[in-house]
Amino acid sequence: MTTQCTNTQHRLYQLIGQLPKTELHLHIEGTLEPELMFALAQRNQVTLPYASIDELRAAYDFHNLQSFLDLYYAGAAVLLTEQDFYDLTWAYLQKAHDDNIVHTEIFFDPQTHTLRGVPFAIVYQGIRRALDEAQAQWGLSSRLIFSFLRHLTEQEGFDVLEQAMPFLQGIDGFGLDSSEKGHPPAKFERLFKRCQELNLPCVAHAGEEGPAAYVMDALHLLNVKRIDHGVRSLENAELVRQLVAEQIPLTVCPLSNIRLKVFTTMQEHPLKQMLDMGLLVTINSDDPAYFGGYVNDNFKACTTALNLSDQDIVQLAKNSFIASWLSDAEKARQLAEIDQIWQAWKLAD
Ligand code: ADE
Ligand code: ZN
Repeated sequence: MTTQCTNTQHRLYQLIGQLPKTELHLHIEGTLEPELMFALAQRNQVTLPYASIDELRAAYDFHNLQSFLDLYYAGAAVLLTEQDFYDLTWAYLQKAHDDNIVHTEIFFDPQTHTLRGVPFAIVYQGIRRALDEAQAQWGLSSRLIFSFLRHLTEQEGFDVLEQAMPFLQGIDGFGLDSSEKGHPPAKFERLFKRCQELNLPCVAHAGEEGPAAYVMDALHLLNVKRIDHGVRSLENAELVRQLVAEQIPLTVCPLSNIRLKVFTTMQEHPLKQMLDMGLLVTINSDDPAYFGGYVNDNFKACTTALNLSDQDIVQLAKNSFIASWLSDAEKARQLAEIDQIWQAWKLAD
């Protein structure tokens, strides 16, 4: 029995590795691995409040979103030069490529850097150079999402948007992240209206720690077309009906939810339930350096804990394309490719 289970799991893990996927919920600052954090601290002569990489890792014991964010913003202090942002982004793209991610839509948090004196141009140009190289080297396509920090004021959002205006041709959308509780979507209604006037799509974190009402407000007040997390939507049946009917994507991050205590164990995570309800859910890594895994690690953890079938895994890979900002033609090409790989995988049984 054990051998049988291990074999089945091994086969499903192979399928996860073989399927092309996108990642749609990834904070580039959350990919800063402890090794790179220490290397950049040394390069830039920044003192970290940890004696070693092990001591830093030991501090990754979060009890909620805020306890993580405090560490995440402190860690970003080592990022100072264009090369630092390039190195950070390139390290992530190599991992994404290893996981068979063929398209990624990444967040960056400009205010985390501009408010400590790093010019917007430095941040943008370092990230952009790495994204362009991944496209040239592997055909790994990407979109860049400018995310506002919701614990700051709406006026501070307008101020940083002003700094981004010369670079708008390289920005593909806007997002909203950071401390959710007490910072409802309504706080950013005017800012998101301005973003939509720029003709760029908007997304927002909602229903991670905050209530289902924040998901509704993100949809209705901010006019977003995709929700980041959204797991607490399940608390409102009417909202679930709307999300299913309109096929509004939810970019779910299972390992993140466990590490930030949104759910106690992976067995309790509602991902499979959401999939079965017909919600357009996708699997993403959020801040993989802090939460213990990249996209394939998230797929594997869900497969094991929630008994996902090969059909579930294939549906999740397909959803990642359907929910992306790729063209309809590119989506169709990738969905056909997924079906072909699935058929070949079944035959190899
Ligand atoms: N910023 C980085 N990760 C985040 C998360 N999981 N929720 C809100 N803001 C974030
Ligand atoms: Zn996030």
